[in-house]
Amino acid sequence: MDLNTRLQNVTVIGAAGKMGSGISLLLALEIAYRALEHKDRTYLLNLVDVNDGALLGLLRYLREQAVKDAEKQMSRIRRLYADREDLVENGEMIQAFADEVLQHVRTGKTMTLAQDSTLVFEAAFEKEELKVGIYKELAAICPRDMYILTNTSSIPLHVLADASGMLGRVIGYHFYNPPAVQKLLEVITPDVCDSELQQLAAELAKVLRKTVVPSNDIAGFIGNGHFMRDGLHGIREVERLAQEHGFVKAVFFVNKTSREWLLRPMGIFQLIDYVGVDVFQLILRVMEKYLNDGLHSPLIDRYLELGIKGGQTSSGTQKDGFLKYDKGAIVGIYDPEKQEYVMMDGTWNKEADTQLGAHPDPTLSWKSLQGDPHLDAKLRRYFGSFGANPTFGVQLATDYFRVTREASLRLVADGVAHSAEDVNKVLTLGFFHLYGPINDYLD
Ligand SMILES: NC(=O)c1ccc[n+]([C@@H]2O[C@H](COP(=O)([O-])OP(=O)(O)OC[C@H]3O[C@@H](n4cnc5c(N)ncnc54)[C@H](O)[C@@H]3O)[C@@H](O)[C@H]2O)c1
Repeated sequence: MDLNTRLQNVTVIGAAGKMGSGISLLLALEIAYRALEHKDRTYLLNLVDVNDGALLGLLRYLREQAVKDAEKQMSRIRRLYADREDLVENGEMIQAFADEVLQHVRTGKTMTLAQDSTLVFEAAFEKEELKVGIYKELAAICPRDMYILTNTSSIPLHVLADASGMLGRVIGYHFYNPPAVQKLLEVITPDVCDSELQQLAAELAKVLRKTVVPSNDIAGFIGNGHFMRDGLHGIREVERLAQEHGFVKAVFFVNKTSREWLLRPMGIFQLIDYVGVDVFQLILRVMEKYLNDGLHSPLIDRYLELGIKGGQTSSGTQKDGFLKYDKGAIVGIYDPEKQEYVMMDGTWNKEADTQLGAHPDPTLSWKSLQGDPHLDAKLRRYFGSFGANPTFGVQLATDYFRVTREASLRLVADGVAHSAEDVNKVLTLGFFHLYGPINDYLD
């Protein structure tokens, strides 16, 4: 069955979640454009989520985004509505397109909505038993040739497929957040996977204008395979530095150097907060279950026992986690012993800054280097200056840089990634790093 036929009846499970809503948007737009181009065909997008309140919000989101998309693609919209004499102004066509998008969408809590789908996207919680239960239910009600594209970010695909009796019919389709914007798509093909499904996944990625990085079916894949080890290094550094400098300063040092000295968009604890301390723990647990590689942190467990979770509010504001935020700025650090945030009020953090020493080049930052045509040369010069600049900050950044590089090389050696270039692509596209971790900048 070709992609266009499969797209005539698609289902997204977990549609109202963070990832599900972005995937739903991508599909809703694609389906609306196809419906206008193939008027002889019917198209249906079933959006299933157990949270029906959130499904209402999803419909509003789809309409808003459909309007924005149509505004950006006005010449295509005018062409598609060329035969509609009743639509004259751009605004009228934009509203007609938003109506078109919603016309193909059906929402509900029940899985039976998926019964005629031959293509199902799954973006429910990252829980093995939950996903297996969903696949079993789908297998029982859907056509025999139904395929599942799952957004799991850590659970091995062969485990999900085997446990649900869906061997050959499940592939990892790991969108990054937010799916509608992020170019990266990590595609995880288990050993047993229908060739039709593999071709379909590749074709759809092109249609959705995604850059595919293939990953092997090893827990955590490339993205979390790197992020979890990077995060654990940050945590171990904190535990080491805390003995001499105290916990709060240690977090300050590691977060600051991992962002400003390594020229990353976020410090490592900011990133863990962004993803959610609870999600970080969940992914570690999944990976440890399958890899048995010391992927565990008592500190993360302690934070969660104390109710410190991070993550985002429904409006996208950052919640407090390792760090305390005020309008996006870091203003404090949580001390699990005192069980309170220690504010960065200048009493101790100025001293911590002095201890780190001057930034090797204060004119350079992740932001200032965006789109720089001489990026590689500038990075080479910047990291090349580390050796002549042995401050405490440079030392921490150098250690971080080397550990992250080793973790990345291991992903290649262990067969998770096919090449160093693939690891670098995941970090630059998926995590917005300026440079891939496998490089020779510090050699
Ligand atoms: N959040 C990210 O940055 C990110 C990135 C890449 C991949 N992922 C993966 O995507 C998946 C979803 O993550 P998320 O962050 O969007 O989670 P989320 O909690 O925002 O959304 C999950 C959604 O699934 C729904 N759900 C739960 N059980 C269901 C069921 N039985 N039937 C239907 N709907 C159900 C929930 O109501 C919720 O709306 C996970 O597998 C996660 O690992 C997440």
